[in-house]
Amino acid sequence: MINGLVFTVGTLALALSPATVSTHIRLTEIPVLVVGLAAILAANALLLRSSLAPLDQLASSMGRVDPPRRSDRIDDRGTGDLRHLIASFNAMLDRLETERTSASGSALAAQEAERARIARELHDEIGQSLTVALLALKRAVDKAPTGLRGDLHHAQDAVRGSLDEVSGIARRLRPDVLEDLGLHSALNALCSEFTQATGVDVVKHLDAHLARLDPNIELVCYRVAQEALTNVARHAGADKVRVDLHATDEHLTLRIADDGKGGVVTAGAGITGMRERALLVDATLTIDSSSSEGTQIRLIVPVHVQSRPR
Ligand SMILES: Nc1ncnc2c1ncn2[C@@H]1O[C@H](COP(=O)(O)OP(=O)(O)OP(=O)(O)O)[C@@H](O)[C@H]1O
Ligand SMILES: [Mg+2]
Repeated sequence: MINGLVFTVGTLALALSPATVSTHIRLTEIPVLVVGLAAILAANALLLRSSLAPLDQLASSMGRVDPPRRSDRIDDRGTGDLRHLIASFNAMLDRLETERTSASGSALAAQEAERARIARELHDEIGQSLTVALLALKRAVDKAPTGLRGDLHHAQDAVRGSLDEVSGIARRLRPDVLEDLGLHSALNALCSEFTQATGVDVVKHLDAHLARLDPNIELVCYRVAQEALTNVARHAGADKVRVDLHATDEHLTLRIADDGKGGVVTAGAGITGMRERALLVDATLTIDSSSSEGTQIRLIVPVHVQSRPR
């Protein structure tokens, strides 16, 4: 249509203007032809440029598509085929995101089920065997001659230590406190365990009047906090971590900020897992990590939106 319009205007200009061209072109007519051609090319370029502008937007949006993040949709501008192309691209993004969310949802659900199974087996099998061993040692201590008692006490301590470790691992694999008492208590327990294990201070600001939320949202927040704190212990070299949790009628915000060395550049399995979990509950996860101010992870979950079943 644009080309047709430009040619029509050019033809009308030729037909209605006094300009003429001789069979053997004269030198004075060349500038007229050049100006006419330049006008046609300029008009064509300007009109095509503005009507094909959404293609640039489409190309840059394609370049930005990043699997673990939600991509922006393109405004349905353009006409004719272009509008159809943009609508198809937006529909393709919708399908990809739905598929990706359900695939990572199933993978994470399988991971949670496997963790729960391992935690159960640790508790029921190894925990039980260690308890039996502890009772047997206690009986042996009661009957043993005095010279042997010291060694048996050492053995008792070692078994008791292993029993504690097994319970700790089982608790981290399946946070029962989350199911029983909710996010506030589970985060409190997680922070205390973190300080105990690493010696890094945690300054907590956890909304104490938090109502029970969708279990998926609680689990996502808990796992994000768990991974963020593990990263602080492993990479940050921090003295202090701040953990904030507060809720409004619409959003739940979890923030974990350390005063360590910062500089998160690439995402490993931990950060990718956080992003995938965030997508499951339509949350936004942002990581600010400037090298001078430590790292801050912020998870904002819309609480009125029903999360996808896992
Ligand atoms: N709090 C932090 N302070 C400084 N660097 C960090 C912090 N958190 C993450 N990083 C950097 O970001 C990288 C990616 O973190 P991520 O959790 O994805 O992977 P990881 O911890 O190396 O391995 P894993 O898959 O076991 O979690 C880390 O290797 C580390 O260099
Ligand atoms: Mg990690």
